[in-house]
Amino acid sequence: MQLLGFLVFLGVAAAEDGLKGWLRYAPLTCSDRCHSNLPSGIVTFNTTTTSPVYVAGTELQNGLQGIYKKNVQVTHKKCNTASSVVVGTLDQYRQACGAVSGIPDLEEDGFWLSTKGSNVQILGQNERGALYGTFEYLSMLAQGNFSKVAYASNPSAPIRWVNQWDNMDGSIERGYGGPSIFFKNGQIVQDLTRVTEYARLLASIKINAVVINNVNANATLLSPTNLEGVARVADVFRPYGIQVGLSLNFASPQTFGGLGTFDPLDASVIEWWSNITAQVYERVPDMAGYLVKADSEGQPGPQTYNRTLADAANLFAKGVQPYGGIVMYRAFVYDHHLNETNWRDDRANAAVEFFKHLDGEFEDNVVIQIKYGPIDFQVREPVSPLFANLVNTSMAIELQVTQEYLGQQSHLVYVAPLWKEILNFDLRIDQKPSLVSDVVTGKRFKRKLGGSAAVVNVGTNSTWLGSHMSMSNLYAYGRLAWNPSDDAEEILQDWTRLTFGLNQKVLDTITRISMDSWPVYEQYSGNLGIQTLTDIIYTHYGPSPASQDNNGWGQWTRADQTSIGMDRTVSNGTRFSGQYPKEIAAMYEDVETTPEELLLWFHHVNYTHRLSSGKTVIQHFYDSHYTGAQRAQGFLDQWEALQGKVDPERYEHVRRFLDYQTGHSIIWRDAINNFYYNLSGIPDEGQRVDHHPWCIEAESMKLEGYKTYDVTPFETASGAVAIVTTSNSTAGTASTKIQFPSGTYDLAVNYYDLYGGKSQWKVYLNDRPIGQWVGNSEETLSHTPSIYLDGHSATRVKFRKIKVKRGDTLKIIGMPDGTEPAPLDYVALLPAGTLD
Ligand SMILES: *[C@@H]1O[C@H](CO)[C@@H](O)[C@H](O)[C@H]1NC(C)=O
Ligand SMILES: *[C@@H]1O[C@H](CO)[C@@H](O)[C@H](O)[C@H]1NC(C)=O
Ligand SMILES: *[C@@H]1O[C@H](CO)[C@@H](O)[C@H](O)[C@H]1NC(C)=O
Ligand SMILES: *[C@@H]1O[C@H](CO)[C@@H](O)[C@H](O)[C@H]1NC(C)=O
Ligand SMILES: *[C@@H]1O[C@H](CO)[C@@H](O)[C@H](O)[C@H]1NC(C)=O
Ligand SMILES: *[C@@H]1O[C@H](CO)[C@@H](O)[C@H](O)[C@H]1NC(C)=O
Ligand SMILES: *[C@@H]1O[C@H](CO)[C@@H](O)[C@H](O)[C@H]1NC(C)=O
Ligand SMILES: *[C@@H]1O[C@H](CO)[C@@H](O)[C@H](O)[C@H]1NC(C)=O
Ligand SMILES: *[C@@H]1O[C@H](CO)[C@@H](O)[C@H](O)[C@H]1NC(C)=O
Ligand SMILES: *[C@@H]1O[C@H](CO)[C@@H](O)[C@H](O)[C@H]1NC(C)=O
Ligand SMILES: *[C@@H]1O[C@H](CO)[C@@H](O)[C@H](O)[C@H]1NC(C)=O
Ligand SMILES: *[C@@H]1O[C@H](CO)[C@@H](O)[C@H](O)[C@H]1NC(C)=O
Repeated sequence: MQLLGFLVFLGVAAAEDGLKGWLRYAPLTCSDRCHSNLPSGIVTFNTTTTSPVYVAGTELQNGLQGIYKKNVQVTHKKCNTASSVVVGTLDQYRQACGAVSGIPDLEEDGFWLSTKGSNVQILGQNERGALYGTFEYLSMLAQGNFSKVAYASNPSAPIRWVNQWDNMDGSIERGYGGPSIFFKNGQIVQDLTRVTEYARLLASIKINAVVINNVNANATLLSPTNLEGVARVADVFRPYGIQVGLSLNFASPQTFGGLGTFDPLDASVIEWWSNITAQVYERVPDMAGYLVKADSEGQPGPQTYNRTLADAANLFAKGVQPYGGIVMYRAFVYDHHLNETNWRDDRANAAVEFFKHLDGEFEDNVVIQIKYGPIDFQVREPVSPLFANLVNTSMAIELQVTQEYLGQQSHLVYVAPLWKEILNFDLRIDQKPSLVSDVVTGKRFKRKLGGSAAVVNVGTNSTWLGSHMSMSNLYAYGRLAWNPSDDAEEILQDWTRLTFGLNQKVLDTITRISMDSWPVYEQYSGNLGIQTLTDIIYTHYGPSPASQDNNGWGQWTRADQTSIGMDRTVSNGTRFSGQYPKEIAAMYEDVETTPEELLLWFHHVNYTHRLSSGKTVIQHFYDSHYTGAQRAQGFLDQWEALQGKVDPERYEHVRRFLDYQTGHSIIWRDAINNFYYNLSGIPDEGQRVDHHPWCIEAESMKLEGYKTYDVTPFETASGAVAIVTTSNSTAGTASTKIQFPSGTYDLAVNYYDLYGGKSQWKVYLNDRPIGQWVGNSEETLSHTPSIYLDGHSATRVKFRKIKVKRGDTLKIIGMPDGTEPAPLDYVALLPAGTLD
């Protein structure tokens, strides 16, 4: 293998805004020997500029130019010019060059890549495959990988889709990276430049379809003007081998078509949809299909007319069948008016109850799209048992690149390890090996259709997702959709080299912190299978454990003064565990054999229940939250050691986000620990919870122009109380004499950053300014902001190494702005090495 030795890397690349994602083609300098491995010609067998094979030629040209400063011409005819890259379909190659041998069978979208002969051969089963092979070769070049390889690569499954939750007004449901690249003011945008750039990124990870509008769909997308817009979007995606799909609103015939009904069996409704479908295919002949969310969270559906979900799915399936389209029907159907007083009620049961009896009743081109877990993208869930309950029905797994319940895009959470645990889970259907990946791809039951769909929240922000680091999740999704057996860490390392270059320390650091990030997030958000203890009623972002219970949404914890967890056993609980195949059901039924990371998902136990570690459940909670927050502090330290090794623009962006995360992990830690301490009354054996010796409460300071404020939920303020300015136009002052021993401290200030204003705070020590900041994170971070003082808006800022003498006066002046009253919670003066 010829590699690294021949490459001398440029120290630091130019400033970068993230727009090119992992397709930067950033320069690598290399010796003559490395140049001798570079092709000096490109041959592509299609002259139509909108064909994927032509696009492949352009990409190669740009890549060689960008990475190695090598100018290479593209030609379209000659076959065997030595030292060329030859790109085309197998058929095109045979026509131009005659028979080929030694190439294994290629499946649809598959390709052959060989760098072994005198030419580099990139041959696709179709043009899309040829483009995939090209991006794979370019990925090697961009990583300085000159290995001689010759292999065929085929997809695990035909469905490798992404779902945009973009609304027609340009907002994005769970979007944290700016407004939609597709929609604005109820229409498709005119300038589709960003859509082209997105198409490139998606093609390079072998995604073959994109549903461009929210599953909570707006029927006005079906107007002739908007369908023209959809056609323009499809034209942009097509050269990249990507088809467009549409989400439908089930009530459209009535709300948009003016019919008196949307009953899926009504003749006028069928006729109406068939007319719409004809209009769509007239403009987009290769439309991938429809995505349907019905009877879910208030969305209209067939249940209005006592029709089955199969009646609904088949209505659309029959409509798109003549055009080769498919229908993705979401399994996310449940009653959100459950009653927690009923011990047997369980939202997790819903999918199997709604769909199992319909197995075999769906048309061949219907695919049931199933979230990986039975609830909703939580930090930890068992796999959805529906995967094991449909035999004669095609299915796809639904994942989220969008970090809806995973710190959104303001916390670093590399999600691929979570996905891998799901995909590698063996359901033991009929007591035979049944990996989830083999079930959803169709292998296990020899179904033709299958695969995956991921919710992706790219926006107009130049980073796409709002944070550079989150892009590893999009990259990893594509890689796993193609090949679920790829390794999460290897995928991450490819992404890192492509995104940040080949520096070994950068690679090692990003690998370490990313691979730690999901376990760490789980530790400080919600562990033992209790779910992400976030505010499920509001933003799904910061801590609010009480919001899980006492409402109809069914994401319950059933936490009371002595016990916690959902009893999902058959013997005494909701019977959910019985939805799994025999061996798995038996494992989850018994508290002793249930993996501890899912203990509280399946069992209701006392806080004093002992885990295998010997710790009680409550002590495990306390300890995990401390460990998680502690490890999150390390992410920042490790990143800061990369200064000068990453371009300044991205270095600073990531530093800022990790710095914020260190603070918010402490807010999570204290909120969850305060909450369960308050509920259970069981003290922390480590005497940390509710015991913060270096903390000075804002409400205990001398206040002028500030007043106290009771925060809800109480656990998101230290002592349940914060302070806010008495007026929204004049500054408030909080001051105190420091009683701690003289020394050098890190000063942490906990405050609340609401949207609705940009307050300013200044900190003084004996009237000497030592720090200031502005409450503008609604513009500088990437999560849903809050209008309240709560766990979402709670934020910590730090000033390092402040020399303090006992008796010094610490003073904070807060200038309110708009409706943000410069809120403060507490300050902490932390001696070196102390985490309060
Ligand atoms: C070239 O690409 C166009 C557009 O995708 C396609 O219609 C045509 O069949 C392709 N030509 C060949 C020779 O494959
Ligand atoms: C180079 O790329 C090939 C093909 O993707 C891969 O198998 C090999 O592991 C890579 N080598 C290195 C050192 O990354
Ligand atoms: C659907 O889009 C139209 C046009 O933009 C808008 O007026 C309407 O409010 C939207 N409906 C919903 C339910 O969002
Ligand atoms: C759809 O219905 C409208 C109104 O009846 C009609 O004018 C149009 O031709 C139909 N379109 C198609 C594609 O059937
Ligand atoms: C649906 O069925 C229920 C009970 O079977 C019945 O009460 C209701 O009237 C039916 N609704 C419709 C719209 O047919
Ligand atoms: C839930 O059930 C209990 C007991 O039957 C009842 O008292 C309560 O009103 C119900 N709550 C709701 C929101 O329906
Ligand atoms: C699946 O279909 C096969 C063939 O039609 C049939 O024999 C089998 O009983 C079906 N299984 C289920 C669970 O519906
Ligand atoms: C992208 O988002 C970041 C973080 O929210 C923000 O600081 C930046 O201004 C945004 N840039 C663009 C071009 O939207
Ligand atoms: C069985 O269920 C009841 C509620 O019906 C609950 O109060 C009790 O704690 C459960 N018993 C066990 C052993 O989990
Ligand atoms: C749980 O705690 C309750 C109340 O303290 C006690 O009555 C019960 O026996 C405990 N259950 C177990 C399984 O330890
Ligand atoms: C829990 O919080 C409530 C309200 O703040 C308070 O009244 C109660 O004393 C607290 N309980 C414990 C055990 O701290
Ligand atoms: C200041 O507060 C008052 C009273 O709450 C409110 O009416 C006013 O709109 C606020 N001013 C601004 C600039 O938000």
